[in-house]
Amino acid sequence: TRVAVLHGINLDALDRRPAQHYGGLTFTQLEQRIGAFADELGLTVSFFQSNFEGEFVEELHRSPDYADGLLLNPGAWTHYAWALRDAVEIAGLPAIEVHLSDVDTREAWRHVSVLEDVRTGKVSGQGVEGYREGLRLLKEAWA
Ligand code: DQA
Repeated sequence: TRVAVLHGINLDALDRRPAQHYGGLTFTQLEQRIGAFADELGLTVSFFQSNFEGEFVEELHRSPDYADGLLLNPGAWTHYAWALRDAVEIAGLPAIEVHLSDVDTREAWRHVSVLEDVRTGKVSGQGVEGYREGLRLLKEAWA
């Protein structure tokens, strides 16, 4: 089974962001860890990252052509980019929202998620391990 791992705005600069929230690892290291989790779980993953909302939306439109589920960390778009919510609905795939930091205990504006009613599940505040949990939740969703 195939998972599209889609990272949004500012995730490419992960190692330059506050380490207390994001762990200080590079984006490449993050993708390597996710790749290892996928191997463990017997899943095939593809990776995409963009800082451009329209590109991210177009990738969501394409995703049903090559994936059976979505693992999404849209970064700050999560909290205000309603077009992403609609694009996840269009994709029509099980979708897990992942955040490295615990968005629900940080600033109030991070408590909002535009994906609330279109996602299958949400994992936040578990750092990189949260991606393992997200992949596990996707397997559960297909079962
Ligand atoms: C994030 C949380 C968001 O609030 C923030 O804007 C990010 C990263 C996370 O992984 O914790 O860019 O999605």
